[in-house]
Amino acid sequence: MFPSRYAIRDLAIAPNLVLAPMEGVTDLMFRRLVRSIGGVGMTTTEFIAGEALRRGVAKAEMMARFDPDEHPVAIQIYGRNPDSLAEAARAVEASGADVVDLNFGCPSKKVCAHSGGSSLMREPELARAIVRAVRAAVRIPFTVKMRSGFDHGARNAPDLAQMCQDEGVEAIVIHWRTRTDMYGGTRAVDKIAETKARLRIPVIGNGDIVDVASAEAMFRDTGVDGLMIGRGAIKNPWIFQQLHAHFAGRPQPRADGTEKRRVLLRYFESLRGEFRNDHGVLGRMKKIANYFTHGLPYGSELRLAFLHSQTIDEAVGVTDRYFDWLAAEELRRGVPFDAPAVGAADLPAGADQSAAWAEARRHAAAPLGPSPFS
Ligand SMILES: Cc1cc2nc3c(=O)[nH]c(=O)nc-3n(C[C@H](O)[C@H](O)[C@H](O)COP(=O)(O)O)c2cc1C
Repeated sequence: MFPSRYAIRDLAIAPNLVLAPMEGVTDLMFRRLVRSIGGVGMTTTEFIAGEALRRGVAKAEMMARFDPDEHPVAIQIYGRNPDSLAEAARAVEASGADVVDLNFGCPSKKVCAHSGGSSLMREPELARAIVRAVRAAVRIPFTVKMRSGFDHGARNAPDLAQMCQDEGVEAIVIHWRTRTDMYGGTRAVDKIAETKARLRIPVIGNGDIVDVASAEAMFRDTGVDGLMIGRGAIKNPWIFQQLHAHFAGRPQPRADGTEKRRVLLRYFESLRGEFRNDHGVLGRMKKIANYFTHGLPYGSELRLAFLHSQTIDEAVGVTDRYFDWLAAEELRRGVPFDAPAVGAADLPAGADQSAAWAEARRHAAAPLGPSPFS
């Protein structure tokens, strides 16, 4: 069976499902949303420039905030200067965060060009100097997140991870893509498996985990100790709760339209309280809605309606209109919107009246009505 927990030294990560760091997404409000649903074993901040944290820049300090009950939480830092990263790590430790995480994996030009991220995968000596300086600076658990390599000619994650372990890093996260894959490429988790086989510290697998099948595949194909989930959690913040239930042998809780609406509106409300101007709130609403609407019926039309919203009230209005429609559709059809869509021909003949099939029968009998935006 698959593992359900791991430990970074004496810090238990249970369940072993971790929210990935995502710039512009995993701020305090989004992490609160995920925590409020449950099933997440650890949350991670957006990446924060080590130099900015070291200098106490207000924006960096804002990004490093976490709630008193948000534990365990990792603060991710990036940069190229060992001394400044060491000082930033001290600031992380002083903040009471549980883990300092170092970014060796970000493909963004901004980060790669002059400040670190996956470019460090091509500079092993500088990478070592940074790891050594950070390790010497703090006593809290220290982790590193990387891609499988910079490009397909240099998929050196196992060597780099080995170096990290030798220098005292206590867990490694590997995203199967290389830097040049950006967010494309064909799934290849062999370097994660190779790293797991070589290291004694926990190795966490990352990349395209969006449901039970992809979560099980990551465990099965690599033997990792835990999973890190990024975009799958924006599309479906219930994913941690669902995977946790699945791996514990319980039925997966489903998020119906009412629950989705509740969570989305509460999140929008929390943004209003946080951003100083409507522009910032609306931008963040659109960013999250862009992912969140995947898998919803007429999701692309809903996305467009969000994108075209000029004000916060308009975006809230779009949400209300859509979810009113969805609730009415669920009532009319007698099945939740995410019931398996099967054609009548797929239904087994004869006596099978299991709940799932009965639901599927009703679903097949009542096709979805016209779009709420038509
Ligand atoms: C919007 C966005 C922002 C990201 N920002 C960061 C970041 O700040 N630090 C980092 O290490 N990785 C960052 N990543 C990469 C993710 O942490 C993760 O490794 C990647 O998305 C693959 O996992 P997924 O398929 O579960 O999304 C970001 C990804 C996205 C989509």
